[in-house]
Amino acid sequence: MIDHATLKAALAGRALPAAYVDLAAFDANVATTLLRAGDLPIRIATKSLRCVPLIQRVLAASPRFQGLMCYHPREALTLHAHGFDDLLVAYPVVQEAEIRAVAQAVAAGARITLMVDSPAHVERLTGSGIPLCLDVDMSARLPGLHFGVRRSPVTTVEQALAVLAAARAAGLVLEGVMGYEAQIAGVPDEAPGDPTNPVIRWLKSRSRRELAERRGAVVKALRDAGAELRFVNGGGTGSLESTAADPSVTEVTAGSAFYAPTLFDHYRAFKGRPAAGFALAVTRIPGPGLYTCYGGGYIASGAPGPAKLPSPYLPVGAQLLSHEGAGEVQTPIAYEGKLALGDPVGFRHAKAGELCERFDRLLLLLDGGVFDDVLTYRGEGFNFG
Ligand SMILES: Cc1ncc(COP(=O)(O)O)c(C=O)c1O
Repeated sequence: MIDHATLKAALAGRALPAAYVDLAAFDANVATTLLRAGDLPIRIATKSLRCVPLIQRVLAASPRFQGLMCYHPREALTLHAHGFDDLLVAYPVVQEAEIRAVAQAVAAGARITLMVDSPAHVERLTGSGIPLCLDVDMSARLPGLHFGVRRSPVTTVEQALAVLAAARAAGLVLEGVMGYEAQIAGVPDEAPGDPTNPVIRWLKSRSRRELAERRGAVVKALRDAGAELRFVNGGGTGSLESTAADPSVTEVTAGSAFYAPTLFDHYRAFKGRPAAGFALAVTRIPGPGLYTCYGGGYIASGAPGPAKLPSPYLPVGAQLLSHEGAGEVQTPIAYEGKLALGDPVGFRHAKAGELCERFDRLLLLLDGGVFDDVLTYRGEGFNFG
């Protein structure tokens, strides 16, 4: 991890707030991700990068990075126009105009796959010629507890076969299956001082077995019914080891692993290196040990809570004030050392790609300086909602 003096020297004379990526840490995370995924290909979750040059950098790092997992059909079309191929839109598309636009691109040779989880989704795509991927629910249902997310209703072989039959009736090809085990990939199991860690780890190991069976049974049934599946996708940053060990999976997904935001700090199976951050300038000194920075209120999505706040980390020891958090325009921190007006304070976002919705550019830090700067999606003028 870079230190505060390096950050300060690298950003001297630059306008703040500014977002940055420590390239050495980013590249180390890319290498770790390859190791964690065994020998499987890795599809890149673009929502967790939101920066075309950095998506290209990951793809260039190894031929095992293959294909992109997009979060919006217009994103897939835009990335196709930028020369990317094999674009899986991971969330269902139900609007006619978007379906028409994707159908046109597919007819012209683009490799874009859309997600479905029901015959009703398939019906909307009738006649479009767009290849399909079936999203299978990977949550665990225990008495009184739903451990996982609320996305696909497909949990059984029969429901999966019904979607296959609907695809055939609509003249469409089911070419992929996705089963994303959010309760393993996105839930920390080693949070400091959290007494529920052992329970979470128990729930994870129990649901891992159950979902490997479910995913395997669905894939087998679809193949037995004649579906020629090009890929079976699973996992995310927090589950690469266990997803890659599931024999029915042919590729894993990773995105957050590269920036390593704070929500991925506390997993027993792996440690990322903080790579993405943003620097705010100290603009006021309201009292001893207190420094107020300009900007900073970049709160992550999801159920609200302190874990969704950005975290000051440079200088080490800086802390948010619990009664103010990160403010719309100003963010105070408590810090026992000395800072001067204009000094940068480095923060990490709780999530990965959302940082890029706040900044037009990412400064790429290397060897103590700014090596380059690149446009984020926002800087490119992309807005996919
Ligand atoms: C369908 C799907 N797959 C994989 C991922 C994993 O992405 P990441 O590696 O950024 O956690 C996500 C994240 O939400 C997702 O929605």
